[in-house]
Amino acid sequence: MTDMKPPRSAAEWDALYGSVSEFFSGAPNPSLIDEAGALPPGRALDVGCGEGADAVWLARRGWEVTGLDVSQVALDRAAARAATAGVQVSWVHAGVVGAALPPDSFDLVCAQYPALHSSAGRDSERALVDLVAPGGRLLMVYHAGFDGKAAKARGIDPADYVQPADMVTVLLGGDWHISIDTLRPRKAPADDAEHHFSHDVILRAQRTAENGSTAT
Ligand SMILES: C[S@@+](CC[C@H](N)C(=O)[O-])C[C@H]1O[C@@H](n2cnc3c(N)ncnc32)[C@H](O)[C@@H]1O
Repeated sequence: MTDMKPPRSAAEWDALYGSVSEFFSGAPNPSLIDEAGALPPGRALDVGCGEGADAVWLARRGWEVTGLDVSQVALDRAAARAATAGVQVSWVHAGVVGAALPPDSFDLVCAQYPALHSSAGRDSERALVDLVAPGGRLLMVYHAGFDGKAAKARGIDPADYVQPADMVTVLLGGDWHISIDTLRPRKAPADDAEHHFSHDVILRAQRTAENGSTAT
């Protein structure tokens, strides 16, 4: 997908998913496993959950999971994956901006390789941070080494999409402990079509708890 222009609308995402029987590998993303594997389960939201491998992995580990995506085609596959795995996940067909989800309510809001549109008002960034509970975490995983010049030559302007720096700009206005790994080696599955991205950018942020701590 990284060699082509990312879809912009829900209908375009549906068409992309619908063009093949399975778009992603079906395996949970290794960076999510590394980052969330040791966290105590709570309420998790997977933003742009796609075909559901990450949401199902979280649910199997005891998280109460909501998977959010604009593509109904992807969500139908995700629901089938959860049923096969025998886990319960709530699936929400919506974009992150305007999704009817309770604010301040998720212990983990994660987004693996999100393709969220940027806006002058930073609507996507604010929607993400508003969903995290006090003491909760935001985890965002991006491809590293994205060549902005080459992307522009293919008609993709990275500035049209929310980047880690945009998230940091919004997080700095709140009460968050932030850390970023810019060159985390990516353990991609062997059959991963995006194997040419060898590293991930990991953005972690923990919201200060009501008692002032970020120690959970
Ligand atoms: C690159 S895919 C990543 C899918 C999944 N996280 C993974 O790593 O396999 C981006 C996903 O975000 C979804 N998406 C795009 N815009 C969105 C939005 N505004 N809100 C929620 N999901 C969105 C797409 O339908 C797609 O499933």
